[in-house]
This record gives sequence, structure tokens and C-alpha cells, in this order.
Amino acid sequence: MASFLSSIMLKKPSACLLILACFLSITLRFSSSHPLCHAHERSSLLQFKARLSHLSSLDLSYNFDSDSGESLLELKTPDFNSLFQNLTGLEELSLSHVNISSTVPSLLANFSSLTSLSLSGCGLKGKLPVEIFQWPNLQILKVGFNDLTGELPHFNQSSALEVLRLEANSFSGEIHTSIEKLDSLIELYAYSCDLSGAIPFSIGNLKQLKYLYLFENNFSGPIPSSLGNLTQLIKLELSSNYFSGPIPFSFSKLINLNTLFLDDNDLNGTVDFDMFLRLKNLTSLTLSDNNLSILIRPGVDKTPPQYMTLKLSFCNLSVFPDFLRHQERMGNLQLRGNHIGGPIPEWLMNICRKTLFHLNLAENYLTGEVSPAICNFSSLGVLRLFKNKLVGELPSCLGNFSDSLALLELADNSFSGSIPVFAKGSQLRMINLGHNQLQGKLPRSLANCKMLGFLTVENNQLNDGFPYWLGSLPELRILVLRSNNFQGVVEEPQTDLDFVALRIIDVSYNKFTGKLPSAYIQNWKTMRNSSVGSLSYMRTKRYQQRLPSDGSTRFLTYGFSTTITIKGVTRYYDVINEELCIIDLSNNNFGGQIPEVIGELKGLHALDLSNNNLTGGIPSALANLKALESLDLSQNNLTGGIPQELTQLNFLQYFNVSHNRLAGPIPPANQLETFGSSSYEGNMGLCGIPLPNKCGNSEPPLPPSQEEREDSWGSVFEFGWKVVVIGYGCGFVVGVIIGHVVITRNSRWFAKFFRVKNLYVRRK
Ligand SMILES: *[C@@H]1O[C@H](CO)[C@@H](O)[C@H](O)[C@H]1NC(C)=O
Ligand SMILES: *[C@@H]1O[C@H](CO)[C@@H](O)[C@H](O)[C@H]1NC(C)=O
Ligand SMILES: *[C@@H]1O[C@H](CO)[C@@H](O)[C@H](O)[C@H]1NC(C)=O
Ligand SMILES: *[C@@H]1O[C@H](CO)[C@@H](O)[C@H](O)[C@H]1NC(C)=O
Ligand SMILES: *[C@@H]1O[C@H](CO)[C@@H](O)[C@H](O)[C@H]1NC(C)=O
Ligand SMILES: *[C@@H]1O[C@H](CO)[C@@H](O)[C@H](O)[C@H]1NC(C)=O
Repeated sequence: MASFLSSIMLKKPSACLLILACFLSITLRFSSSHPLCHAHERSSLLQFKARLSHLSSLDLSYNFDSDSGESLLELKTPDFNSLFQNLTGLEELSLSHVNISSTVPSLLANFSSLTSLSLSGCGLKGKLPVEIFQWPNLQILKVGFNDLTGELPHFNQSSALEVLRLEANSFSGEIHTSIEKLDSLIELYAYSCDLSGAIPFSIGNLKQLKYLYLFENNFSGPIPSSLGNLTQLIKLELSSNYFSGPIPFSFSKLINLNTLFLDDNDLNGTVDFDMFLRLKNLTSLTLSDNNLSILIRPGVDKTPPQYMTLKLSFCNLSVFPDFLRHQERMGNLQLRGNHIGGPIPEWLMNICRKTLFHLNLAENYLTGEVSPAICNFSSLGVLRLFKNKLVGELPSCLGNFSDSLALLELADNSFSGSIPVFAKGSQLRMINLGHNQLQGKLPRSLANCKMLGFLTVENNQLNDGFPYWLGSLPELRILVLRSNNFQGVVEEPQTDLDFVALRIIDVSYNKFTGKLPSAYIQNWKTMRNSSVGSLSYMRTKRYQQRLPSDGSTRFLTYGFSTTITIKGVTRYYDVINEELCIIDLSNNNFGGQIPEVIGELKGLHALDLSNNNLTGGIPSALANLKALESLDLSQNNLTGGIPQELTQLNFLQYFNVSHNRLAGPIPPANQLETFGSSSYEGNMGLCGIPLPNKCGNSEPPLPPSQEEREDSWGSVFEFGWKVVVIGYGCGFVVGVIIGHVVITRNSRWFAKFFRVKNLYVRRK
């Protein structure tokens, strides 16, 4: 004991407490929940030599840096087995967030006297010993946020377990009927695992259950109606599974329910919303993203439950529910993708003015103008009105009414007039105004939105020069000006840090003239990093948003949506991955040569310079764009040959140089041959497969033009094809990007694929 104390005492200000605890030999509490026991610095249990054979409780939990999430205590040398060898008589052991980072210690199975075991977030891998579930006295078992595998056991005897937390692990298999044996269970957390199968009916026998979290698994089959017998339930969260069938009517018996999350499943049928209106304690209800039809009777229930979160997206609603009139503290109201027509009612803009943070009315049939009363929502962080039939000018207050506004999505309406002015200190991260009829210039006040990461104004009638003044925005990653009347020469950047974060720039279908903006290309530093990896077009992003009003924080999960042309296909993507690097300068009047500097953007996935007036040769430096999947240079005045080096672009899946003045052979025996002849047609001088005209000696290659560079096709004949054949063998079929998957509404695909967590980031 002496050596243990001496080592700890040096580091901890709370030594007196420890001494006391150790002499008593009963409880040793060293967790951050005690104010004296904060571990202020990284420390290790290296010196810990516990001979505290009478110790009954040891708590070293939650000593972690709350900013970085890093554990401050680690248990590696000595490891768990040698350190706790003599402590197997413990009754309580809590090591949550102590960094153990190993497979489950074999000794763990010997702590059969435990009543409470907490090992959350310890970096444990492998299988949990099944004996643990048979320990007679165990009441609390918390092993969430590890990387544990294996299946839940069959329970063959009744158990004292009250708290079972298995969340955010890789447990698989089913929950067996024998779960009913855990009849003292109050909390069951098994979310964010890989559990599957149907939930057994017998779960309705866990009469004490108050918290049941099973979201983000692969459960299927019907939701058992027996859950309606669990009248103690306070929180029931079953989101993001594959549950099908109806919502059991028995849920109307769950009078103590405060949270019911059923969104993102395959539930169907018609639901009479009365069953939820009876649950007066229900403050959070999510039914979105199923195949439900929700029936809400007209007429006003004067005392509906007071919701904080209500998500009824894609629920076949045709009117705004009347019970909303009596809501007073809603923070999150989502009615996306219903059939609600008519104007946004004035009363709706007068409920929950102070509390509403997230308002999503997108994809309905809303008509009329947006009243300035919308600016009464003084705490709004997210405003989504896209895909409606709204008209008129945007209220001028829209740019300054809430100092929390982060996402403004008004795309796909018929808004006209000019874009409002944005206030200083704006928190906006995403502005999507695409597909409207907005006119005039981009307001210079957009430069006030210092956090702006995404701006799209595609398909409007804006008339302006290149917005070089947006260059000062340090976060701007995606800029889409496609299909407007932007025009003129793109001037030089003002500093070499302008647009430094840019990853996707699309100025296509405008009237820009002059040379390609090589000085900007020089600036796009983030595009220089090679990112060959497992990207997809879609990816949601999570941000933590601190509300200036009360300092509280919210999480925003969202994806950027815009039109992109990639691989010759133009599509509207509901969510695109902002890690993608795309340059689309097509369909303008750019002239001059293709600058060599483009070859430095190693992260580039797609380059479209088509339909301009570009001259000169195709720079062989483009062969440095190793991640490139799509290259379109068609409809220009390019001369010379196709550089042999381009055969090194192993990921290239789309290539188009048609309608130029290129000449010479298409490099044979590699993937360039596999693109169809329409990729090459309209070039008088090109020959070879896939074009019909063969390259013969009778057809002398055209003399290289003046601008042509040393790497022209002429050298093709002098060197062998070794490099090229290797490129052909290992490349091109394997695109890094998963193509053409469009999410229409259900977040299922990426939620599953990327394990997007609602509240937590899994700690690995
Ligand atoms: C465990 O107890 C045995 C016998 O009491 C003792 O010899 C040994 O040193 C103890 N181990 C540790 C790690 O304290
Ligand atoms: C655990 O207990 C078993 C049987 O009680 C014993 O054989 C084994 O040595 C113990 N394991 C450890 C690591 O002490
Ligand atoms: C539990 O609920 C089911 C269906 O709602 C019902 O048939 C069953 O009798 C109930 N069981 C008990 C013990 O209450
Ligand atoms: C509802 O909540 C209140 C306060 O949180 C609580 O006292 C009450 O028991 C709950 N249940 C019902 C049915 O009202
Ligand atoms: C709500 O907005 C309207 C229109 O801007 C305004 O006339 C009204 O005073 C506002 N109401 C409140 C309570 O702020
Ligand atoms: C290449 O571009 C031309 C002109 O833009 C187009 O007609 C042709 O279909 C394109 N080829 C492919 C394979 O997309």
C-alpha cells in the first residue's frame, strides 16, 4: 500500500482523500465525478501495486480530457491481469475511459463478486466472457464504446442485472427470447451495434424497463406489440433499423414515455396520431423516413403534449397539424417531404419563436411568398424550404434575423429579386439558393459569413463578375455558380491565400472570358493533397454549433446538395462528399492554353474544361492527376497529340477530347482505347482504335504545332509500351468513387455505410 500511495500522492492534490479511503479499505474512488479527484495531467498506473485485498470498490473512471476526449489514465504496463490479480473480490469496479487498449483481459472472468462493472470506452477488443452474464450479484454492466464482438448469450437464469449498456460495439446476432430472464432490467442500451433479427415478443416481460435504446442496428421484422406492456418506459429509441409493419397500437399505453424515436425504418400503415396525443409526457417523437401515413384529425386539442422534437418527414401529411398551434417550446420541427400545400400559415411563424432551432418544410407544395414573420424565429439555426413552389422576393431580414443561422436551404423554388444582405458575425455554413430566379449581383456582404463552407447559386439569373472577394472566406470549400450570367475576365487573386480551402468549383454555363485562372489554381492548396481512397459522392458532415443566445451546443448533421457533372453525366446530388475535388470551368468562353499548374492538383477527381476556346496542346502534366476519374476537354481548339503519359491515369473512367484539332495516334493497348469513339470524334487528325481510321505509314502525322510541348504523341513511337500495359492491367476498372447513387430521401444508405451517429462519435 505504501508504494502505491507514494506514487499517486506525487501527482494528485487529493492524497488525503486517498489515504482515508485506503485505510478504510472499502472504497477507493478516484473518478472525475469527485471534484478533488480530477486527473490534471496524463498519468499512468505504472506504479500502482495494489495489495488492497479488502478493497470492495475501485473507481478510476472518467479521467479524460473533455476537449480532446483523450483518456488521462492508461492501464498497459502493468496490464490489467497483473495489476488486479489480487482484487478479484471487488464488488464495484469502474474503469470507464481508462485507456486499456487490448483484448478483453482473461482475468475479467474471475471478478464474479462484482455488482457493478464499468468498462466503457476503454479500447477493449474481442469477446466479452459470457460468464459475466451469470454472475449472481451483477446489477450494472457497462461496456459501451469499445470494439467488442460476439453475440449476446442465452440467459438461462433470472438475473440481478438492472443496467446493461453494450452500445457502440460490434456485437452481432440476435436478441434471444431468453432476454426475458433479465427481469430486473431498467436500462438496455444496445444501439450502434450490428445486431439483427426480430426483437422477441418476450421483451414485453421486462416490466421494469425504463430506457430501451436499440437504434442503428439491423433489426428487422415487426416491432413487438408487447412493448406496449412496458408502462415504465421513459425512452424508446428504435431508429435506423429495418423494422417493418405497423406501429403497435399498444404504444398508446406508454403513458410515461418521454422519447419515442421510430424514424428511418420500413414501418408502414396508417397511424392515427391520436395515439400519440394521449401520451402527455412525450416531448420527442420521430416518425420520419418510413412508409407511414399519419392521420391527424382536424380540430384543436387545447392541451396536446408539448413537443421539443417532432419529426414527421415523409409521413403523407397534407396539412399542417392543428396541434402545432399550441406548441410552446419546440426546438426541432421537421415536416419534409409531405404533401402540404398552400402558403406557410402566419400562425406557424408565431409559435415557439424563441425556441425553434431547426425548421424543415422542404419538399412540400408550399406556395406564396415567405412572410418576413419567419424572421421572428430568433434562434433558428437551420431553415430548410427547398423543393417547394414558393415565389416572390426573399424577406430582406433573412440575412440577419438569427445569430445562430447555420444552414439556409431555399433551393428549387421560384424566388425572384435579389439575394438579401448578410449581417456581420453571421454563423452561416451553408447557403443553397440554387434553381430559383434570383437576379442582380451576389451581395458583397456574403463576405461577412466567415464560416461559410458551401455556397451554391446555380441555375439563377445572377449577373455579376467573378466573386474574387469571396476568396477571403477561410472555410469556403464548395462554390457553385453554374448556369447564371456571370461574366468577364477572372482577375488575379488578391493574395495567395484566396480560396485556399476550395475543393469544388463549378462556374460552368456562364460567360467568363480571358485565360483560365491559373493564379487561382495555384492557390487551391487543398486540391493538391492526393486523396485516392474510399470516397463516395455522398457524405454527411457533423458540426457542433454553439448557440450565442444561451451558450448551449447543438449538433448539425447535414450534407451538401448540388448539381455536378462527372463522367459525362449531370445530376443533382442530394448529398455530396465535400472531400471530392472537382473543377468545372466548362461552357464558358475561356481562351488560351491549359495551364501546366493544373497538374499540381493531385487530389483532383474531375476536370471539365469542355466547350471553351482553349488552344495549344494537352499538357502531359495532367498525367500527375493520379486520382482523376473524369477528364473532359471536348469542344475546344486543342492541337497536337494525346500525350502518352495520360495512360498512367489508372482511375480514369471518363475521357473526352472530341471536337478539337488533335492529331496523331490514340495511344494503343491501354484504357484510352476503351472509351467509345465519341470521346475522340471530330478531330481530323486522330487515328487508331476506337476510331475507324487506322494509323498507317501512308498517313504521315501532322507536324506538331507551335504551342505543342515536347511530350507530344511524336515520342510515342520511340518508346515501348511497357508502362502503358501495366497501367492497363491494374487500373481503371477500380474507381475510387462509387458512382451515381442518388439519395432521394432516406438517409439509410449513408447512415449505415458511414455509421453516422446521432449523438456520439464512436471512439476507436
Ligand atoms: C498478490 O498476493 C500474493 C499473496 O498474497 C502476493 O504474493 C503478491 O505479491 C500479490 N500481487 C500483487 C500484484 O500485489
Ligand atoms: C481465474 O479463476 C480460475 C478458477 O477459479 C483459476 O483457475 C484461474 O487461474 C483464475 N485466473 C486468473 C488469471 O487468476
Ligand atoms: C402484453 O401485450 C400483449 C400485446 O399487446 C398482450 O397480448 C399480452 O397479454 C400482454 N402481456 C402481459 C403479461 O401483459
Ligand atoms: C410525466 O412526467 C411527470 C414529471 O416529469 C411525472 O411526475 C409523471 O409521473 C409522468 N407520467 C405521467 C403519466 O404523467
Ligand atoms: C413577427 O413578424 C412580423 C413581421 O415581421 C412583425 O410585424 C411582428 O411584430 C413580429 N411579431 C413578434 C411577436 O415579434
Ligand atoms: C464527348 O463530347 C461530345 C461533345 O461534347 C459528346 O457529343 C459526346 O457524346 C461525348 N462522349 C461521351 C462518351 O460522353
